[in-house]
Amino acid sequence: MKKAALLGCGVVGGGVAAIMQDNAAFLEKSVGEPVELKYILEMRDCSGEPWADRVIRDFALIESDPEISVVAECIGGVTVAYDFVRRSLLAGKSVVTCNKQLIAEKGLELLGIAKEKGLFLLFEASVGGGIPLLRPLTNCLSANRIDDIYGIVNGTTNYILTQMIECGQDFSDALREAQRLGYAEADPTADVDGLDAMRKICILADLCFGSNVPPERVPTEGIRGVTGEDALLADRLGYAIKLLAYARRVEGEGERFTAFVAPHLVKKGTLLASVSGVMNAVVVHGNAVGECLFYGAGAGRMPTASAMVADIIDTMRRGDGRKFIDWGEEQPERFADPESLPSRWYVRYQNGCAGDAMENCVSENGVCGGITARPMTLAELREAFGATEILSRFRVLD
Ligand code: HSE
Repeated sequence: MKKAALLGCGVVGGGVAAIMQDNAAFLEKSVGEPVELKYILEMRDCSGEPWADRVIRDFALIESDPEISVVAECIGGVTVAYDFVRRSLLAGKSVVTCNKQLIAEKGLELLGIAKEKGLFLLFEASVGGGIPLLRPLTNCLSANRIDDIYGIVNGTTNYILTQMIECGQDFSDALREAQRLGYAEADPTADVDGLDAMRKICILADLCFGSNVPPERVPTEGIRGVTGEDALLADRLGYAIKLLAYARRVEGEGERFTAFVAPHLVKKGTLLASVSGVMNAVVVHGNAVGECLFYGAGAGRMPTASAMVADIIDTMRRGDGRKFIDWGEEQPERFADPESLPSRWYVRYQNGCAGDAMENCVSENGVCGGITARPMTLAELREAFGATEILSRFRVLD
């Protein structure tokens, strides 16, 4: 019998408990012996829940119980969760987590402890929810130099943008609905301001480029600046607006790379533009494999819990056959400023003259929107517009 403990039984934790109960026979078959969820650490009143008999409030019980081989963390954040994950590893227990903030901010340290102790720290659910992404990236694509990795990694903002574009819903109604459906973080600013996507691209860049990317290094722009007018003008230009998390190798010396999060215009008719609602999609370019697209449910109770329970199974099934995924210390000199990356830009501007910088301009109530005729850096874009006020500008994904 293998025994696990769950920290936090909210939206995702509740899904983990449900899968472990409902799919107990599958788990037993996969692991080769029965799997029991022995403790659920939860501070809420859980009387009435089917798993109420396992609820405890004292983490020390888990920490000191030699029967517990795996701890699944669903608390979120980096205060209590960090303390409990660290203590679990130090107590000789493998950990699985869906906590992207924890991995983005503390992953290097925690992976170091796991490695030293010969334990697993797995976090498949932290990026892309239920989509198999980190394992394919680190296993199936390990023969490749990764040149680009980008995509839609936040279900809440994609849901909000989709509702705004396709249903004309306003921002706050769409956000409320996303929260009701359990997609949004408890504090929705993490979604709306791009922080959640930024933490996910940090993890992807860590894995793809091998050096720690601290969150504060990654320029992050959320969707608050996307207006209904932008959605309309972009649509008339033949594009959808998507919040993309982007990391790419930068040509030149020293194996440099960059990462950032920002709204982009994505050509309608492409696979990425058709990713709607809470779905996520991540494009990976490897120098041998070419382009791969990973698509699926990127948020929500059961998809995220599905990836977490798979990690639990993996730690139990592989026992001492250790397989580490990790990355090295930060190498600041390798991180290129994304502002210097040239791209074509969508610009919305008031009447004025944009010289010959733009093509395909359309206008609506005195406001113009267009795409720059050629790729340029942000500084070049500002120079091309001179005194003409830029109301909004987003990169175009070419
Ligand atoms: N709030 C996140 C999202 C949850 O909307 O994608 C999954 O990480």
